[in-house]
Amino acid sequence: MNSYTVATLLKETKLQEVHIKGWVRTFRANRFVALNDGSTLQNIQCVVDFEKTDEALLKRITTGAAVAITGDLVESQGKGQNVEITVTKIEILGDSDPETYPIQPKKHSFEFLRENAHLRTRTNTFSAVMRLRSALSFAVHKYFNDNGFYYMHTPIITGSDAEGAGEMFRVSTLDQKNPPLTEDGAIDHSKNFFGKDTNLTVSGQLEAETYAMSLGKVYTFGPTFRAENSNTSRHLAEFWMIEPEVAFMDLAGNMDLAEDFMKSVISYVLEHNKEDLEFLDQRLLDEEKVKPQAERSDLSLIEKLKFVTENNFKRVSYTEAIDILRNSKPNKKKKFNYIIEEWGADLQSEHERFLVEKHFKCPVILFDYPANIKAFYMRLNEDGKTVRAMDILFPGIGEIVGGSQREERLEVLKEKMAVLDIPEEELWWYLDLRKYGTAVHSGFGLGFERLVMFATGMTNIRDVIPYPRTPQNAEF
Ligand code: 4AD
Repeated sequence: MNSYTVATLLKETKLQEVHIKGWVRTFRANRFVALNDGSTLQNIQCVVDFEKTDEALLKRITTGAAVAITGDLVESQGKGQNVEITVTKIEILGDSDPETYPIQPKKHSFEFLRENAHLRTRTNTFSAVMRLRSALSFAVHKYFNDNGFYYMHTPIITGSDAEGAGEMFRVSTLDQKNPPLTEDGAIDHSKNFFGKDTNLTVSGQLEAETYAMSLGKVYTFGPTFRAENSNTSRHLAEFWMIEPEVAFMDLAGNMDLAEDFMKSVISYVLEHNKEDLEFLDQRLLDEEKVKPQAERSDLSLIEKLKFVTENNFKRVSYTEAIDILRNSKPNKKKKFNYIIEEWGADLQSEHERFLVEKHFKCPVILFDYPANIKAFYMRLNEDGKTVRAMDILFPGIGEIVGGSQREERLEVLKEKMAVLDIPEEELWWYLDLRKYGTAVHSGFGLGFERLVMFATGMTNIRDVIPYPRTPQNAEF
């Protein structure tokens, strides 16, 4: 007798005795068990003969219970499935309490499910989202592997806080109530575990650059941490970032790589995760129906994904973007929260979304930003005021990728660090790359959860990571 998952069983054509384990989604009419094991969105229908089954056992077949079923795979008499199981034996592996089990067979709000995140993948929406998350993560590794990149594990604990990508979380083993102090009363980090002040990393980029300058093409894909107090639907304090870094590649090459990569991972799920995408597509259509006409999206989820894979991303310089924004209706009518007045303004998410969703109506790559709103390591352009930075903006998401060509000239980099008060001692190894065989190189960072949001149509980043870490929240 063969053991199956629901996914393999539903594809089985040989009618035979089978064995399967899973969780009861529903039990109707003392007869029909809808069984799910996470391998697919679909349940397998298992038909119990209640006349031949002990009553005490029947009572224990409740929503949420874990069961092992043996039976005959037969063609289904009912609608909605090709095959079903005529149960010959049902064993309760783990009882559930129908009074208190939170995941009832009805619609739950996402807020409620966030509070029950340990059980929310027993719903169709979250199991579909997390299967897609897994597939996207595989597609990321596949893309880089197929294209000659090496996977590099950059450190999670870092001794430098120079990147400046965000506020950091301190890592310390010092007694918090009574820390050792230096003569001038400051905390004495020489007594700390690493002999210095350390933090959780905000990005693996600087270390990835060191490997790009020896292995050529590398990428990292790991957790990153930012202690900003931004309680928005697009920010997490702990998120996963993908950061490729490539030697001898300039900004144009970086844009080509990022576009090709984004298209490739989205194509992968379009091809391999049809069932889950179709379910999420329908979920969004149902949601759209109750919205006012003006707020409805023109494209369905799958159409949006195809739109990205089939069209070129629009490449626009920061300067052009500022002109467009300055002359835009919401700017003139003061509808933006931040009015764009002059060149040099930092773009807010409302501006990014205007460019993508209203003006260009396609993914946009903005490049050549003013130097003073971007990080110290970005390559200064000949104009002396812009840097070779690029951000990719996606509909519904805003900024999804941030990257740049790196400053490879030692003197220019040193000057920039001096202006920003970044001590050379702290980044001596980063400067060494510019001393020994320096070369043009570039890379970017993709926020993985923002990609999962885009691919699933989920609108809150807390719903695309198993256990979100946000201000005032580290449950589970
Ligand atoms: O633009 P960021 O800060 O770039 C870097 O960290 C560079 N070191 C990347 C590089 O060039 N290697 O972050 C990159 C991306 C953003 O575009 C966004 O998608 C995501 O990371 N991101 C966040 N995602 C979730 N929560 C947050 N708090 C995020 N901050 C950035």
